[in-house]
Amino acid sequence: MILFEQDSQGKLITIQTAATTYQMCVTERGFLLHLYYGPKTEGDLRYLLTFRDRGFSGNPYDAGDNRTFSMDALPQEYPCYGNGDYRFIAFEMCDDHGIYGCDLRYAGHEVIRGKYSIPGLPAVYGDEFQAATLKVILRDEAAGVEVTLLYGMLADQDVITRAAVIRNIGERKIEIHKAYSGLIDFMSGEYDVIHFHGRHGMERQPERVPVMTGTQSYGSRRGTSSHQQNPFLILAEKDCTETQGTCYAMQLLYSGNFHAEAEIDQYGQTRMGIGLQDEMFAYPLEKGEALYTPEVVLCCAADGMTHLSHILHTLIRKNICRDQNRISRRPVPINNWEATYFDFNGEKLLEIAKQAAALGVEMFVLDDGWFGARNDDNRGLGDWTVNEKKLGGTLKQIVDQINAMGMQFGIWIEPEMVNEDSDLYRAHPDWAFTIPGRKPVRGRNQLVLDFSRPEVVNAVYDQIDGVLRSANIAYVKMDMNRSLMDICTKTDKMQNQGVILYHYVLGVYAFLEKLRTQHPELLIEGCSGGGGRFDAGMLYYVPQIWCSDNTDAIDRITIQYGTSFGYPVSAVGSHVSAVPNEQTGRSTPMHTRGVVAMAGNFGYELDLSRISEEDGQEVKRQIADCKKYWKLTHEGLYYRLTDPLHNREFAAWEFVSEDRAEALLNVVTLDNHCNNPTQYVRMSGLDPKGCYEAQESGRIYHGSALMQAGVPLPFLQNEYQAWQVHFIRKQM
Ligand code: GLA
Repeated sequence: MILFEQDSQGKLITIQTAATTYQMCVTERGFLLHLYYGPKTEGDLRYLLTFRDRGFSGNPYDAGDNRTFSMDALPQEYPCYGNGDYRFIAFEMCDDHGIYGCDLRYAGHEVIRGKYSIPGLPAVYGDEFQAATLKVILRDEAAGVEVTLLYGMLADQDVITRAAVIRNIGERKIEIHKAYSGLIDFMSGEYDVIHFHGRHGMERQPERVPVMTGTQSYGSRRGTSSHQQNPFLILAEKDCTETQGTCYAMQLLYSGNFHAEAEIDQYGQTRMGIGLQDEMFAYPLEKGEALYTPEVVLCCAADGMTHLSHILHTLIRKNICRDQNRISRRPVPINNWEATYFDFNGEKLLEIAKQAAALGVEMFVLDDGWFGARNDDNRGLGDWTVNEKKLGGTLKQIVDQINAMGMQFGIWIEPEMVNEDSDLYRAHPDWAFTIPGRKPVRGRNQLVLDFSRPEVVNAVYDQIDGVLRSANIAYVKMDMNRSLMDICTKTDKMQNQGVILYHYVLGVYAFLEKLRTQHPELLIEGCSGGGGRFDAGMLYYVPQIWCSDNTDAIDRITIQYGTSFGYPVSAVGSHVSAVPNEQTGRSTPMHTRGVVAMAGNFGYELDLSRISEEDGQEVKRQIADCKKYWKLTHEGLYYRLTDPLHNREFAAWEFVSEDRAEALLNVVTLDNHCNNPTQYVRMSGLDPKGCYEAQESGRIYHGSALMQAGVPLPFLQNEYQAWQVHFIRKQM
């Protein structure tokens, strides 16, 4: 519900979702102030605003001799640089003389049924019964700028989205130097910020730190959302845990450079904002032109972070992911990357496929190395023509044989990239990002194509489209294997780096949109050296993303733990690979690798023709389990039962069906010690009045006991052992 009230003090706008309230007001002088976001409240919250005469916090001219009104102290919806706020701000522009600053004031608002969308960018969707849109228009005529703040509301899901449209309404050119998607001010409270950092092969490690005075800054300058910082943050009250306390999420739907900041200001107030990266960003707007920011999802839970994650998981599954594969069980694949790397031929692929088919695997995925002269990672990118010599025939011949084994077929692509040693680069060197007169920075010996240019996107698309139409291809893994540098578009139109990078992301989205609409049956998996572009923007185009190049089950536990705060199991690509693990050298039992991979889109990444008879039997069991538990793991609620970064004895997580009729408990032992004390794991989310039968032992437990007292772990003598128990509620 979006409510609007007006009185002598100005205007009050309230967004009420099922369990949260968001309120803002327009002052008599037209400033748009933020009043509250949090657990549900009623009434007019303007009483929370306090006004004092404070030194070095200036006053707008039209406040007259009222020295208590300062934008430096008041909470705001979209603070801009130029009217007295010296904290980090959401919006900054300069005019064609290089003069910074503007003064945005309320110019009107509108409520529309249904959810807004954003041209060329991902956005949460919801029909007119589920969603509503609020548009608040801010304007500064003198600066020639109008900012339309978009608020989307999915009331039943307790989700509010934000984005901004910035338009030049003047006669002169302006430049936008900062444009956040959303920002929230908290007048009171003490908070921690949780951000998800990492590196290649070790993504989304949560770090919880207090918000401090001064600005804490997180973001990416890499051109993608990055392995190093995920565009997702949680702000949690100091005492907030998984099951209690108030917390907030900011989830950006964007796959490029972003910036997020948090600060405590001089008056003890907390501000947090997120949006486009503003470093090296200067977006020119001629008369009438507009810039759209990406969208940010906001949500708040009054009962801890598990609930916050559940809101986001459901939203991503039902209102961000779009294709049909988001709701159906996806085939169990075998991917040949870790089995062969570049060293394969058609015969070898068919041998792996044959073995996999016999064990019940449902799809064969041909990874890197099938095209051009790509026999190692130094050449070939950009030449999307099948290397028939290597395959020993056409792609169709291979695919037909794999289909005849009862398996679907998938293929790897990396459309944004080019090697200098490729026909594409030799024909179009100007399509790659390089700066004239300077040698470029290489990454994996490759350069990045200028996807801000539609003709480049279309030319690559056409090549890949030709391959996809040449055989019965059911799945595509779309990879992206380096960070961007040397940003320069080689056309007549000179563009700033930030502009190019924004349009680069739009180009990637345009590629994906074309791929998914022209091949509606295709299952597309995102990837960027594993999870380097694992974000909610990508999930608008693809239902799943390869979570990490690190397939070690123990490292994966922490990677998947961190990922689970913002993203559902259905978004995670997770495979069983060989031991000793290729990345860490660690050996873990086949069963453990299966249990860990089942907290994602389950599959294999090894040469199944080389595993033991015993492991082969385990593979068969795993595939049967994956099918049996698919609904529970993908549509059920996910519970983090331990924090594997701090609890080093064992890691535990759990899936519970929405009706609480069944649960799957997963435990993996971590560090092992001599003569260990017994470990107990407490379950979550069960029916406290129900009784549950553990399927393996037949033993009956009370739901309340499983949650309050827990269950003792069996004596698992070695490290890295898994224990998976399926509980079904009994009618007593
Ligand atoms: C990236 C991916 C891997 C694999 C290789 C192929 O690193 O994340 O899974 O596809 O590229 O070059």
